[in-house]
Amino acid sequence: MIRYLADRKSWILEDTVAYAFGLTPSGLLVHTYFGAPLPHEADYPLPADFPIPVPFSGTDENSGEEYPAWGGFRFIEPCLKADFPDGARDIRLSYNNHTIEGNQLSIMLEDIDRSVGVKLVYRISRSVVERYAIITNNGREAILLEQVLSGALTLPDAADYRLTYLSGRWGAETQLQRSMLGKATHVMESRRGHTSHSANPWCALDPDGASTEERGPVYAINLAYSGNWKTVVQSTPVGQVRIASGIHSFDFSWTLAEGASFETPKFLLTFSDEGFGGASRNMHAYIRNNVLPLGHRNELRPVLYNSWEATAFDVTADNQMRLAEIAAEIGVELFVIDDGWFGARNSDNAGLGDWVVNRTKFPDGLDAVSKRVHELGMKFGLWVEPEMVNPDSDLHRRHPEWAYRYPERTSSQMRNQLVLNFGRPDVQEFAIGFMNRLLDETAIDFIKWDMNRVITEAAGLDLPADRQKETWTRHVQGLYRVIERVRTSHPSVWFEDCSGGGGRIDPGILGFYDQAWISDNTDAFDRLFIQEGYSFGYPANTMVAWVTSEHSFLGRRRLPLAYRFHSAMAGVLGIGDDVSRWSDTEKTQAKGLVALYKEIRPIVQQGSQYRILPPGTGSLAAVLYVAGDLSEGVLFTYLNRNHYGNPLPILRLPGFQKDRLYEVESGDGPAQTMSGRALHLVGIRLNLREEYESAIIRIRAK
Ligand code: GLA
Repeated sequence: MIRYLADRKSWILEDTVAYAFGLTPSGLLVHTYFGAPLPHEADYPLPADFPIPVPFSGTDENSGEEYPAWGGFRFIEPCLKADFPDGARDIRLSYNNHTIEGNQLSIMLEDIDRSVGVKLVYRISRSVVERYAIITNNGREAILLEQVLSGALTLPDAADYRLTYLSGRWGAETQLQRSMLGKATHVMESRRGHTSHSANPWCALDPDGASTEERGPVYAINLAYSGNWKTVVQSTPVGQVRIASGIHSFDFSWTLAEGASFETPKFLLTFSDEGFGGASRNMHAYIRNNVLPLGHRNELRPVLYNSWEATAFDVTADNQMRLAEIAAEIGVELFVIDDGWFGARNSDNAGLGDWVVNRTKFPDGLDAVSKRVHELGMKFGLWVEPEMVNPDSDLHRRHPEWAYRYPERTSSQMRNQLVLNFGRPDVQEFAIGFMNRLLDETAIDFIKWDMNRVITEAAGLDLPADRQKETWTRHVQGLYRVIERVRTSHPSVWFEDCSGGGGRIDPGILGFYDQAWISDNTDAFDRLFIQEGYSFGYPANTMVAWVTSEHSFLGRRRLPLAYRFHSAMAGVLGIGDDVSRWSDTEKTQAKGLVALYKEIRPIVQQGSQYRILPPGTGSLAAVLYVAGDLSEGVLFTYLNRNHYGNPLPILRLPGFQKDRLYEVESGDGPAQTMSGRALHLVGIRLNLREEYESAIIRIRAK
């Protein structure tokens, strides 16, 4: 899988894709190839210095370095920039040695005369290459790191590239965006302390914008990090396209003491020549098989009920039990009490930080509730927000110094709350302590872990003033440490990631949480867009979606119950409506749909996803999931508009076994029999008529 070709001074990582790089005659470590594996070693390009001198530029910045450190003629985005105590500010890396241990390649680089080492670590897992860097100070004085990215990738020459990325805001996360690169530098970033609603570190590039959903070369990247990050896509003066990604350098610095190391988050790279669909499926498989926490990695996600939209902060034992009974009747498997169960939490004004059950609302404590939920045959879940505190809370009165703040200045509040300094070991111990206590004292099977504001005034570490810029990074390290410790003590508990909806979703957080709440927007039509964007980088078994009321709190339309279910059933199904208001007919319909979901869930959650018709293209939207053994598929279709009585577009369905025969349930007519090839080349036409009519079409091998 990983080879070193001494005569070519090249390293090749090969699996279902190949990634190659090597040393040029002048000693630069440069990228040489990323794409489909090549048959012969000699097929991989030789590492070469840029062939012609470019006045006012240099060989270094044009040769496609794997990990450029700032220094010399490098005006491109550097991966590494440091300050030395004597005022020198450049690093010149040269190759020292390498090791290959199983599926891990490490390349050791060193500065030419200062004792700074950079270890580049590479792994390949099927179609995904993981890269990260470890910077070590082997000298006798501390150095200041100003920028430490995870890595850089150089793309093959093309006239231009198209950038596909995700942007958004609260309630409208993961909106798909596309633009040609041209000659501008594109920066996608978060400076908000979490991954952010406004941008996500996933992005993809295709040469000349010519690739399609299922055809053509696509390079996609992601960054496993849940704090401030940036991805810089730029064209060098000679037209080479480079992508560098890592922890954001804005308001960042890190003092690297003598003997200390700094490890970057993982930079993930994939290639597919099966278009954007192929690149997405690569990332889905990787996140499912390599990233998600081991404990529940291969388990089907339960159908959940969440009380937030039904009861908001007015949770009581009585109203939760009423909801739980109906949820159980409908077929729900996990009942989650959201915000409002603890302290003086009657609104968002007070109580955050006081993680003790509110006895006025739950006179017999949480135990009684958990017991009843278990008797109803469901798992029991609870909402928490460990990184936060309301100023009006016992915790804040006890420890005002635990919230982020600048000395002698007031901190900004959002949703009446402040952020706890998770970089402080005492705050981490507090969070580990109360979470472990909560999980030890009550039979809780599931935690929804929220983070309902961004970070400001990032300071207050027990470190000198010139080290306060470490705060942003230490928050993320602290969070990862806390959740890791809590998970290790409670391996059977499920964890859901949330940050006011999808504000903190990335392959870093998904290493600790089993699934994610991807948006507070529960309008089933808007959701199709959010879910579409999400699916470019993340698998359906992490994508929690609730069925809420006919007229969602953000929506400007009424949607039928079936449509709301069909939208949510394309991910991890949940119900979030006030089910005590549902009629018997609605409950019966819901029960049938939950039962259907349980049948198709293995295909949705663990199969391969094909975006057949994006919701933005016109009347009809469609998404297909095909089982791993190709024996079955589930097609979700939604008629969102209907103009001029036009017939609906034909849906061509890839992904099935070409010469196998399948039975296609059409919804309202007799089943048809078609081969996998015909499903792809001929396709099917549906018979939906009404706006917001939807259907689930099952396709089963005969
Ligand atoms: C956030 C979450 C919601 C809900 C509320 C509770 O907004 O995204 O789902 O949990 O907090 O305050």
